[in-house]
Amino acid sequence: MQAIQISEKVYWVGAIDWNLRDFHGYATSRGTTYNAYLILSDKPTLIDTVKKEFYPEMLARIQSVLDPKKIEIIISNHAEMDHSGALLQAVADMQPSAVYASAMGVKNLVAQLHPSFEIKPVKTGDKIDVGGDTFSFVEARMLHWPDSMLAYLEKENILFTNDVFGMHLATSKLFDDENDEQIWQQEARKYYANIVLPYSEIVTRFLGQVQQMGLSPKMIAPDHGFIWRKDPSKIVKLYAEFAAQKPTNKAVIVYDTMWGSTDKMACAIADGLLQGGTEVKLFSMHACHRSDVITEVMGAGALLIGSPVLNSQIFPAMADVLCYMKGLKPKNLIGAAFGSYGWNGAPVDSLTKTLEEMGIEVVSPAVKSCFVPDEAKLQECEQLGKLVSQKLAEKMP
Ligand code: FEO
Repeated sequence: MQAIQISEKVYWVGAIDWNLRDFHGYATSRGTTYNAYLILSDKPTLIDTVKKEFYPEMLARIQSVLDPKKIEIIISNHAEMDHSGALLQAVADMQPSAVYASAMGVKNLVAQLHPSFEIKPVKTGDKIDVGGDTFSFVEARMLHWPDSMLAYLEKENILFTNDVFGMHLATSKLFDDENDEQIWQQEARKYYANIVLPYSEIVTRFLGQVQQMGLSPKMIAPDHGFIWRKDPSKIVKLYAEFAAQKPTNKAVIVYDTMWGSTDKMACAIADGLLQGGTEVKLFSMHACHRSDVITEVMGAGALLIGSPVLNSQIFPAMADVLCYMKGLKPKNLIGAAFGSYGWNGAPVDSLTKTLEEMGIEVVSPAVKSCFVPDEAKLQECEQLGKLVSQKLAEKMP
């Protein structure tokens, strides 16, 4: 295991998790990396650690360039366990003279690790001398945890951004220009939709703040995926675009089905949308994953949700995806509900209430079918699709 040099004094000493397929409910079909960075300044400094079980990999990479006991400073940019999980062991082995985190980071690390060592708080604008270079800090509250922080290495002109600007992509190619853009565009979008989306207003404000600070880093080094060296502004621009959530002429239909009735309704709605000139993405929760659904919803203009009724409830898979989406707070959507039932249609109506609770502009009462939809009911579904298309067209610039 070797450290990889990324600039004169900075080395990547992270770990690659090739086989991770679930990151707290987010399907990471291409794995991930836990990036940690070693600065060989006069006071050797480690930025972040890795998931606990990957500590031996990080340690071996450090050992390839430096005796870990020579590390004097550890900076913890974020107290989530994929970055802080190995901190306790790292401090025990390295015995640094100082460990730094944001004030919220100190609080969260203490609650997680119950450390016997001191963690010193730093705030936006604080600087620490690492011998030959200086770190300054930018707090990034709620991007995506209250403790999140960025660290800027001034002379090397590298911004270490932790989760921000990262993606879940296991790759042995360490830089943006070495990775397939088609793949990373998908993964960057998916990561934003599944991790950062609820904080989009904060992202917009934060990007403005960073611009005002006049930072123009030659590299952006996040803790997941690869390092942005060729064109760091690319991911910054993408974040601004993602955060804006401008509605598009695309509708996402999310549903589950019991005996095929809700499936028939979903297909008829899709037909109506297509006839109205709207792009359609259709997800049956029998076959699809919640994290792919929210990725499409983020770039859409409409969300249609459908469910059969089981034991006077909506289908469990629909409850799952709706709970997930509600938490991620997609914006600027119109929507409607549909579904089939046998003797109690109220749960289908509850889907409309869920849309309203999500801040989605409901354009029609729920279309409900008692058992199997007949031709007239399927026409009603088709009309719903056309209505959504028409409403979307009115919203388009
Ligand atoms: Fe990559 Fe919020 O942890």
